[in-house]
Amino acid sequence: MDKSSIIKKTKEFVKEKLYGEGSGHDWWHIERVYNMSKFLASKENANNFIVEMTALLHDIDDWKFSKGNETNTYVTEEFLKSVNVDKEDIGNIINIIKTMSFKGGIVDSSQCTLEGMVVQDADRLDAIGAIGVARTFAYGGYKNSQMYDPSIKPMEFESLEEVKNVKNHTINHFYEKLLKLKDLMNTETAKEIAIRRHKFMKQFLDEFYYEWNFGSK
Ligand code: NI
Repeated sequence: MDKSSIIKKTKEFVKEKLYGEGSGHDWWHIERVYNMSKFLASKENANNFIVEMTALLHDIDDWKFSKGNETNTYVTEEFLKSVNVDKEDIGNIINIIKTMSFKGGIVDSSQCTLEGMVVQDADRLDAIGAIGVARTFAYGGYKNSQMYDPSIKPMEFESLEEVKNVKNHTINHFYEKLLKLKDLMNTETAKEIAIRRHKFMKQFLDEFYYEWNFGSK
């Protein structure tokens, strides 16, 4: 199979698996990350095939549903073999997916390949800005979290179990993760794109507190 047919097949596979997913890792998230990854790859001269495949498959096995520190990549590996991606490419793609997610900031998620940097940046850009705000509240609802509770302050997590299990409210997620992402972008192109999105989240929070506190002293 040539590379463009593999990519086409991969899109079909991912769309079928994630369409209608309710936690913010749905097909449209994948499509946005895929488009952003392609854009960043062209600016940064990264390998297109690795970037596109990784972007499409990065949420198929989600670390939040895996045990231990590492993302389990069983489904992704099976799929890659089934469409005859060569061994070296499979190794590269899997390696990026295993290491790219933020995991509460506790596990090192730094990328050592340009392709990894590009896809990680694209995924992080989709976590901030207006889309980031929307996805964060969608995810909070999915996890049954409160929107906000002024008595619970943002936390520094010490273990992955804590990240997964602590009862928290959604506004804290901005301080625990989203507002940190701008400075964690790998590529210059993503750093530039992040500025506007970061600024919007800060405006959103200002407005949120303004309304929340309206009329109180
Ligand atoms: Ni993602």
